[in-house]
Amino acid sequence: MKGIVLAGGLGTRLYPLTKVTNKHLLPVYNKPMIYYPIQTLVDAGIKDILIVTGGNSAGDFLKLLGNGREFGLSHLSFVYQEGESGIADALSLAEHFCDGDKMVVILGDNIIEKSIKKEVEIFEKQPKGARILLKEVENPERFGVPEIKDGKIVRIIEKPKIPPSKFAVTGIYMYDSQVFDIIRTLKPSERGELEITDVNNKYLEIGQLTYGILEGWWTDAGTFDSLLRANILVAQKIKEEDGAQKR
Ligand code: DAU
Repeated sequence: MKGIVLAGGLGTRLYPLTKVTNKHLLPVYNKPMIYYPIQTLVDAGIKDILIVTGGNSAGDFLKLLGNGREFGLSHLSFVYQEGESGIADALSLAEHFCDGDKMVVILGDNIIEKSIKKEVEIFEKQPKGARILLKEVENPERFGVPEIKDGKIVRIIEKPKIPPSKFAVTGIYMYDSQVFDIIRTLKPSERGELEITDVNNKYLEIGQLTYGILEGWWTDAGTFDSLLRANILVAQKIKEEDGAQKR
């Protein structure tokens, strides 16, 4: 199983914080943002990880992460996404790295409380297709939102004005290598991006999309409010863990 962290894009929603640096290098409590998605993959038992970066300060990722020794890794791979053509465009750069293997993809601004190891194990046993993780949220209109009928996803809508459910599609996606053929069929959306939601809807069309519900809290960190929330949640978690150790 390969792991991919998508850390491209220009982070314009955090301007001017991202004017001279990359969103994923900004601090979230006591670590740079990118540490959290890498740790999520490592905690799920994934050791072969690709970072897709882009935009400003791309060289700083190498300086910061090196070969991933801080995470117990012996090597890390890097590629560079030119422009900001969307999450699916960033993922297309991982085809060579995946070399036919299945993959767990995580967005570089997604931070979670608990391990996804069990979900990855379920996907390992899934003969083909994709698996996504949902989380109930208060503001689904900010995300990809699934319409669910009789426990089955019937479609996913990206940032719907009227959300068909209370769930967000989190930025953790598990795919087989068909994903690269699917990405080649995509057309840019109204915002000019190759949308990951279109990829997931294609898997749905061919009857190969499963889902799980993410345990524990989940947040992105790509807006001022969600970045603040991410800082607070991570700080609380660390303090709780420290407290538990002292007891
Ligand atoms: O966080 C989950 C949400 O992420 C999903 O619910 C949505 O369906 C999905 O479209 C995405 O929504 P956002 O609009 O929040 O995505 P954003 O443009 O903020 O990009 C999130 C991360 O994806 C970003 O931190 C790095 C990576 N990315 C994004 C773009 C546009 C890239 O690597 N390259 C890109 O070109």
